[in-house]
Amino acid sequence: MLEPVPTSPATATVPTVNPADLARLTETVQVEVRLCGLPTFRSVASHVVSAASGPESDVKRIALMVGGDPALAADVLFLANSSLFGFPARIGSLRHAVAVLGINRVRDLAAAVAMRGLVREVGPLIRPCWRHSIACAAIAEAVAPALGCSSEHAFTAGLLHDIGRFGFLKSYTKETERILTTTFSEADDVIQAEREALSMDHGAAGAYLIEYWVLPTWFDEICRRHHFPLAPSDSDLLKTLKVACRLATAMGFSSAQFEAPPAYDDVVESLSQVFQGLRFPAMEAMAAKIEERLEILDN
Ligand SMILES: [Fe+2]
Ligand SMILES: [Fe+2]
Repeated sequence: MLEPVPTSPATATVPTVNPADLARLTETVQVEVRLCGLPTFRSVASHVVSAASGPESDVKRIALMVGGDPALAADVLFLANSSLFGFPARIGSLRHAVAVLGINRVRDLAAAVAMRGLVREVGPLIRPCWRHSIACAAIAEAVAPALGCSSEHAFTAGLLHDIGRFGFLKSYTKETERILTTTFSEADDVIQAEREALSMDHGAAGAYLIEYWVLPTWFDEICRRHHFPLAPSDSDLLKTLKVACRLATAMGFSSAQFEAPPAYDDVVESLSQVFQGLRFPAMEAMAAKIEERLEILDN
């Protein structure tokens, strides 16, 4: 005869889960699922960004990849022939474009073209976010060498660092519009408002999207941590992006509204204390650089 199965063994320990933690975890998972509603990053662009970031990238392969998306190819050729690069002779083939621009620049263009596609699919508040991203990319590229960072990845990282905001605007339009039209006293308050309304901030959402779109993993920390305070353990690229994001906001390229936006000179002064002896570009010089990029990418 079978022994009855004990229904509640005295020795069994049932793991206890704090209901608040469980609720937060569930909400976070829901946010991630809804972020999947963001239009996909153009798949060819994502392959180009990944391949051009790898050690075995070559001109022929990248040109072939770009050619797999006719609209992307047209945009790359258009941008290669634009005044931004100032090449005197017309660039007519993708291989020529990749050869003269360089693989990293083509990766920047592929990321920019893909991001522009997203901008067109989301409501009007995406525009200040996109302009902030372009300004941040231009500043990151300019300050990278002084911060010991190769400017190689800086421009693309600047374009992508706030991708979580794009995701929020698409998937949580009402909540995000409410946040972006509220006036805050500091950047940390915006992050806090996102966490309260959406269970995660745009940095964490961006890191999630980088993984979801299979973009290179080094973008992950840029997205996730660019609003964290500067720390000695930061990679040079992360430092560069933290600096660029703050300077872009101080120049008026801000996604959020602030009671008293930080002044450029004040931000530069506080950064000069952290990076002793470092000279940051004057605002006028930086503004001219940003305008050049905006003219091409924000149309
Ligand atoms: Fe941000
Ligand atoms: Fe930013």
